[in-house]
Amino acid sequence: MTARLSGLLKGAVENDDVASAIGEYEHRYGGEARGGQDLRLAEYRNFVKLYFDLTTDFYEYGWDRSFHFAARAKGERFTASLARHEHYLAHMLGLRPGMSVLDLGCGIGGPQREIARFSGAAVVGVNISDYQVERARKYTEEAGLEHLAEYVVGDFMKMDFPNDSFDAVYSIETTCCAPNKADAFAEVLRVLKPGGRFGTYEYCLTDRFDEEDSDHLRLKADIELGGGLPEIAFPHEVDDALRKVGFELLDARDLSMEAASDVAWYEPLISAGPSLETIWSCRWGRVVTHTLVKLLESLGVVPKGAHRVSALLNTAALAFTEAGRRGIFTPMYFALARKPDEP
Ligand SMILES: C[S@@+](CC[C@H](N)C(=O)[O-])C[C@H]1O[C@@H](n2cnc3c(N)ncnc32)[C@H](O)[C@@H]1O
Repeated sequence: MTARLSGLLKGAVENDDVASAIGEYEHRYGGEARGGQDLRLAEYRNFVKLYFDLTTDFYEYGWDRSFHFAARAKGERFTASLARHEHYLAHMLGLRPGMSVLDLGCGIGGPQREIARFSGAAVVGVNISDYQVERARKYTEEAGLEHLAEYVVGDFMKMDFPNDSFDAVYSIETTCCAPNKADAFAEVLRVLKPGGRFGTYEYCLTDRFDEEDSDHLRLKADIELGGGLPEIAFPHEVDDALRKVGFELLDARDLSMEAASDVAWYEPLISAGPSLETIWSCRWGRVVTHTLVKLLESLGVVPKGAHRVSALLNTAALAFTEAGRRGIFTPMYFALARKPDEP
């Protein structure tokens, strides 16, 4: 574990720059009153890239190569639940061999490799973080999946692909990073072939969220800053944005409310689980990690500022847990849409 922690933050940001990078992130985009939303929206490219440059190593260390939450059934292993969440999307999109598919905001390619393997479709991942793309390519080569999974560094708000390029498009907890949902969805519509499907798992506030409740507002702000999100939307805003740009909405619902999610999606942030798979993401695992990161930082093993990144992620983890318990937030509002056939 110490060996793995020693490698933190050695790739994306120069050693001497970590402290100033986390300082810039917190002060520019959060601030005392957590009022950095205007800048998060206006400077979303810098905001998102900075966030993932700082946090990717922590995600890999404490979570998995798939950077998302998942519905989970009793007795189901954590990694199996992540894969099931990905397979469900592939199934709802009708993916099969020969199809050409786009993964928006592909992270380090965990879901993409699983979906390519599961469906046989060829998947292109687009990602604004060159550090993550570098990691994705390395893991894809190790898995021998280069023939089905390739990666492009780019902004999904404005992509270089020609119109009507893909049979299907999906996004897993990524269009929540978009500064404007309708603009992001319009770009998806443009690159999809007529009749093609788009499936997305969205971070959303629920109808239990009360804009007059200061605790709710604090939890929302902590999730936004700690999760690299300009602003969290409501489900109806996702549906409206899809329809507004011209999609037909086929299905839309919160998967966290459904039968096969009787283990709460935020459980990996609370307990290590029966098989200890979530040992480093759970509450006491994070305390141990944070203490060790501080120690390694004082010894000069990890860059200065690393413990502040760990603290940022801990704040987010507590906010996700509390918002989940109160039922005011879901990371799995699922929407399935179709691009109309040409007239
Ligand atoms: C929470 S991570 C999810 C990653 C991946 N879908 C997964 O489940 O493992 C969000 C991803 O979206 C990417 N992203 C956010 N905004 C983006 C943008 N405008 N263009 C391209 N990628 C973006 C981030 O770099 C990051 O990889």
